[in-house]
Amino acid sequence: TVLVIDFGAQYAQLIARRVRECHVYSEIVPSTMPVAEMLAKRPKAIILSGGPASIYADGAPQVPEGLFETGIPTLGICYGFQAMVRGLGGSVERTGRSEFGRTRLDCATDTVLFHTLPGVQSVWMSHGDSVVEAPAGFRVSGSTASTPVAAMEDPERALFGVQFHPEVMHTEHGQALLRHFLYDGAGCRPNWTMVNIVEEQVARVRSEVGAKRVVCALSGGVDSAVAGALVQRAIGDQLTCVFVDHGLLRKGEAEQVEKDFVAATGVSLKVVDAQDRFLDALAGVSDPEEKRKIIGREFIRVFEQAAREVVAAGGAADEPVEFLVQGTLYPDVVESGGGTGTANIKSHHNVGGLPEDLRFTLVEPLRELFKDEVRRVGEELGLPAEMVWRQPFPGPGLGIRIIGSVTRERLDILREADAIARDELSRAGLDRHIWQCPVVLLADVRSVGVQGDGRTYGHPVVLRPVTSEDAMTADWAQVPYEVLGTISNRITNEVPEINRVTLDVTSKPPGTIEWE
Ligand code: XMP
Repeated sequence: TVLVIDFGAQYAQLIARRVRECHVYSEIVPSTMPVAEMLAKRPKAIILSGGPASIYADGAPQVPEGLFETGIPTLGICYGFQAMVRGLGGSVERTGRSEFGRTRLDCATDTVLFHTLPGVQSVWMSHGDSVVEAPAGFRVSGSTASTPVAAMEDPERALFGVQFHPEVMHTEHGQALLRHFLYDGAGCRPNWTMVNIVEEQVARVRSEVGAKRVVCALSGGVDSAVAGALVQRAIGDQLTCVFVDHGLLRKGEAEQVEKDFVAATGVSLKVVDAQDRFLDALAGVSDPEEKRKIIGREFIRVFEQAAREVVAAGGAADEPVEFLVQGTLYPDVVESGGGTGTANIKSHHNVGGLPEDLRFTLVEPLRELFKDEVRRVGEELGLPAEMVWRQPFPGPGLGIRIIGSVTRERLDILREADAIARDELSRAGLDRHIWQCPVVLLADVRSVGVQGDGRTYGHPVVLRPVTSEDAMTADWAQVPYEVLGTISNRITNEVPEINRVTLDVTSKPPGTIEWE
């Protein structure tokens, strides 16, 4: 384990991801955690993250007492670098020479961090304070025009520090530098592989669940599919997956769950066709929050009923169902303070708020994983690529992509338009470049058009392609004009009710990704 000590949340997650991309397991811990507790996790290395504070500010987070006496190889980044310098007797000052953004670094290439790398490289900086003197015993290994001490190391004590951010993409050789620290500076081995993750989680699920029975709600999304497949791998027929078809899915998705997923995993699946029920409940409702509440409520009712039936059916050993699989990911765990067990159900509408008399213990086999790791685990488990690489899709589905009330006809129209957009974006090879591309039907808006010899009076759809790392912020994606042109032509030709295709060019913030 590599511990990433968190001095400011947005930096720590990215560092942890980059460490794992070096095939070394990493975990984020708060800077307030006592050193003894950190040692109990048997870390092979420690990384001190960046953070927004000045180390001289009141209440600025400090390096845990005694950390540098543990002998554990440590890399300080930005704020973490300055905290290290200060803790070991060097000096940090507000020099008035801040650096933000791309900066030229001159470095010594006969060092642990920079060997094999060029002596001049482009790095990403973001700091006001600067280190003016490295602590005794350190060699200064890098500098920039405004920062004489931009990198330092003491390989004897396995202590390293850099002022810039190796974890961000804009630092040219950042990933190589992290690798050098982990493998050469700290002696870590690259053994965090998908095969190991799967084996470890399979063993863990087996010991958690024993001979008890388990249910899993499949949403059609990546996380629940991978979580379900992993649990199936661990306990086979003790698991029943429940798929509620609420009729708000995209074209082909229900079939994917009912056929491809079952074929790939051999899971025992209970499908509930609840399309009419959802449509009835949604009739005439156009307020977004109202729609979400209705969909969430109906989902729970239908799922509850299905779960009762699974319970009633009994198992081979007539065991009641006691466990519920959740596709909680590591970022959810970090953001909710890292708690465990039942207290930590995602507020996600899917399975939040199950009734008291249906209390399950949660099984969360993806709790330690980032999204990209979940996808690779899915591949390792043999799930179809279309399922594993699917773009995020909201739980309430197409229900919140119809602006206006939801009807069967409107769903059919949107499903066709959405399928065309997805098809063309895939064909253009843009799937992994784009985070997601909602297609939104402005069902209460009509505009005049002309097609053939006739006047049309149809509906517009909005294309909303965005790029993002985590959906918290997003930018509108610059899809090539030819691709947009093809999508527009095909939609207006193939979907008679739509006579206009528009493009949303708003970032998030101020827009959200979805329109509702
Ligand atoms: P927004 O629209 O808030 O969306 O920028 C951020 C991300 O979350 C997805 N999303 C949802 N997912 N239930 C979900 O499971 C929901 O109610 C929901 N609303 C939005 C959205 O697709 C995007 O990826």
